[in-house]
Amino acid sequence: MSITGIKGMNDILPADISAWQFLEQQARKIFSTYGCQEIRVPVVEKTELFSRSIGETTDIVEKEMYTFTDKSDHSITLRPEGTAPVMRAFIQHKLYNQDQISKLYYMGPMFRYERPQKGRYRQFHQIGAEIIGIDDPRIDAQVLAMLSHYFDTVGIKDVSLQINSLGCPKCRPNYRATLIEYLEQRHDQLCPDCQRRGSSNPLRVLDCKVKGCQEATTDAPSILDHLCPECATHFSAVQQHLDLLGTTYQINNRMVRGLDYYTKTTFEMVTNSLGSQNAVAAGGRYDGLVAELGGPELPGIGFAMGLERLVLLLGEKNIQPAPARIFIATMGAEAEQLAFTLMNQLQRHGIHAEMDFGGKSLKAQLRRADKLNCQYTLFLGDNELAAGHAQLKKMADGSQTAIAIEGIYAQLCSLLDAEDTTSL
Ligand code: HAM
Repeated sequence: MSITGIKGMNDILPADISAWQFLEQQARKIFSTYGCQEIRVPVVEKTELFSRSIGETTDIVEKEMYTFTDKSDHSITLRPEGTAPVMRAFIQHKLYNQDQISKLYYMGPMFRYERPQKGRYRQFHQIGAEIIGIDDPRIDAQVLAMLSHYFDTVGIKDVSLQINSLGCPKCRPNYRATLIEYLEQRHDQLCPDCQRRGSSNPLRVLDCKVKGCQEATTDAPSILDHLCPECATHFSAVQQHLDLLGTTYQINNRMVRGLDYYTKTTFEMVTNSLGSQNAVAAGGRYDGLVAELGGPELPGIGFAMGLERLVLLLGEKNIQPAPARIFIATMGAEAEQLAFTLMNQLQRHGIHAEMDFGGKSLKAQLRRADKLNCQYTLFLGDNELAAGHAQLKKMADGSQTAIAIEGIYAQLCSLLDAEDTTSL
């Protein structure tokens, strides 16, 4: 019996890779124009890193982590998200000594033991960015403007930005106490999970998908009515600057996020096209996290996008792989030999060239050229060799040009280099 992959962990096959590469390349391009640099951190970390940062009572830490004991009896965990590992690296390498402000981005696989469904997997991929060292609300607005710039550029339109503020250690405890009191009065109407969470992680109840819980909490107290003056001023400045930058948003005072490190601004990019997995990107401010993990008191803000969800949204846009530039169709052993050398020379020159081997029929070779969506076909047979000219056919319009065999490599290079591939 053949061995299959693990449930919820997917292969990304060549037919789908163009969309992935496109999304990754655009992120590199756009994030770097905002001054972000890439950081790569391991996929496994000490378990304590996640329990301390994400929070002991969160779903991720309670139920979803891939945690193992290694051969030295250390508890290690496959990263369920990127913020904590990036902060760990930031502190460990004292990046704060190199610059007052660190702007970092990352991409790669994350792991959560969730029930797989469309848009939700056990190995999934995030592209994220973290800006450390600035508490100015303008940076919150700029991070969100960068995110919406990214969505505009990749052409994903069916998303909207929701924002909220989760307050800070000064004001959240008051709100939490008010909410606990409110939930206690509705205890019997809540699902068993929320009955349990009601006192340990009451904010999560607002986010519960169970209808009964949503109905029972429609008039729940709003965090936005409980912000301290500093958090309220920050939140209104974020909105002002989003308006200034023309970034549209809605305020959602029930958005709570599933990770404990957030303070002040939080946000999600949501879509109606992916069923219940509606968040395609999410993040917020985490002003206490760096210190919590043993670093200096530095504020931070960031987000992560779910790549699988972006790919699903990109869907019909059908990002095609770049076509092969030239296929060399051969007839006869001598021509095949010359074509082999020519193909390798062109490839070294940076031109995607292809050919078939083993004297296949011309029809079969042309079928393959067609499959590869080649822009040109070079007809190179022993007859052409004898005549001293090969025929180059431009597939878009069928036009043919004779190319002298003598110096054919240089001629093809200058012809193909001079062409703008996008206009073909
Ligand atoms: P998160 O909301 O847990 O936040 O995940 C961010 C995004 O990752 C989600 O909006 C979703 O698109 C994607 N995602 C999460 N879980 C899955 C899954 N099981 N399958 C597919 N996609 C998934 C964080 O991870 C924070 N670290 C974001 C952040 C960065 N906050 C500040 N900086």
